[in-house]
Amino acid sequence: MKKVRIGVVGLGKIGAEHVQTIKKIKNIRLTAVCDQQKKLADKISDENNLTAFYSTNDLMNSAEVDAVIIATPHYLHTPLAIDALNAGLHVLCEKPVAVHKADAEIMIAAHKKHPKLKFAAMLQLRTSGYWGKIKEIIDSGELGKIYRVNWIVTYWFRTQKYFDDSPWRATWKGEGGGVLLNQAPHQLDLFQWYFGMPVKVRAYCSLGKYHNIEVEDEVTAYCEFKEGFSGVFITSTGEFPGSDRLEIMADRGRLVCENGKIIFDRAESSVNEFSRTTNVAFSVPEIKTIEIKFNEKKGVHQNIFENFADSILNGTELIATGEDGMNSVELANTFLYSSLKNVTVKLPLDSSEYAKLLLNKIRRT
Ligand SMILES: NC(=O)c1ccc[n+]([C@@H]2O[C@H](COP(=O)([O-])OP(=O)(O)OC[C@H]3O[C@@H](n4cnc5c(N)ncnc54)[C@H](O)[C@@H]3O)[C@@H](O)[C@H]2O)c1
Repeated sequence: MKKVRIGVVGLGKIGAEHVQTIKKIKNIRLTAVCDQQKKLADKISDENNLTAFYSTNDLMNSAEVDAVIIATPHYLHTPLAIDALNAGLHVLCEKPVAVHKADAEIMIAAHKKHPKLKFAAMLQLRTSGYWGKIKEIIDSGELGKIYRVNWIVTYWFRTQKYFDDSPWRATWKGEGGGVLLNQAPHQLDLFQWYFGMPVKVRAYCSLGKYHNIEVEDEVTAYCEFKEGFSGVFITSTGEFPGSDRLEIMADRGRLVCENGKIIFDRAESSVNEFSRTTNVAFSVPEIKTIEIKFNEKKGVHQNIFENFADSILNGTELIATGEDGMNSVELANTFLYSSLKNVTVKLPLDSSEYAKLLLNKIRRT
């Protein structure tokens, strides 16, 4: 079987996990690892009988890899992805694909110059049976017209020690944001995958409300979509116990996705039509409660790696492209922009305006 030769760039928490995941994959061969921390690169290369690199330039020009997975701190995603594409390598980039939209735009422009190369994003929740089933239900139209969406994603509790242990985290300069850039990008991706991009946003972000950090650790965002429905997205790293509850109110009832269960309170007919046509003042539509079943599929990171390699070898469509990855970045940036400027934002976000705002935050801290 033909295999894609891959190098892992950045061997921290997730990079080290990717090394183990890739070893299980049939259509990929891990050939090299790279980290600027020599000891770490040597340790992982020795344990796995791989070539170690301490500089990304050396790895990218080594002819030992066809592709890289970029698993470094966020700001490096942009320059490293561009370097890799220019070196003729396929790129799988960790989330968030970039810290801000302008950076994502230059990555996409670099990819356009190399259309034969694959540029994918590690947005692995798209491959989960649970989240995939929800997408299927929404796309099938069986919910009818959507009226309102609420997503509370507050299970991202983090301690002060977590932030203190990695100096790049939770700073404007090192990470470019907080919960929106680090923990919630996966749900922001699903939010836009399910419902599209909003046309208008008003958000409130609390900076360092629960932790001694510069950036946001609690967010409430109100979004309006072109179809006329509204969405509220709430996230936090300060609360415990947290929730992960997605509620979709629609004309054919309510879908509640929580605790790994998908519950559909299905109205037997259109709720709106019932309301308009019934001649009984205090009546309600008939509802049937159904638990919707789904199958889980392997590990979610593994699914993305396999799809990336399959796309390189056989032209299979990517589950999440680098271009798709820009949407969750734009949502995160828009929420922060709206809150920091105290304004309602019409999308698309002006990427250079946001880049200026972020630069000012970095300069002031
Ligand atoms: N998809 C997921 O499930 C998932 C999970 C965790 C983290 N992530 C993302 O992965 C990225 C890394 O996160 P982490 O928690 O592993 O961070 P980390 O700090 O644990 O690891 C980052 C590693 O990158 C290395 N590095 C930094 N600069 C480098 C350079 N110029 N060249 C080579 N190596 C360099 C560091 O030495 C470190 O070992 C982040 O963008 C994060 O958002 C994704």
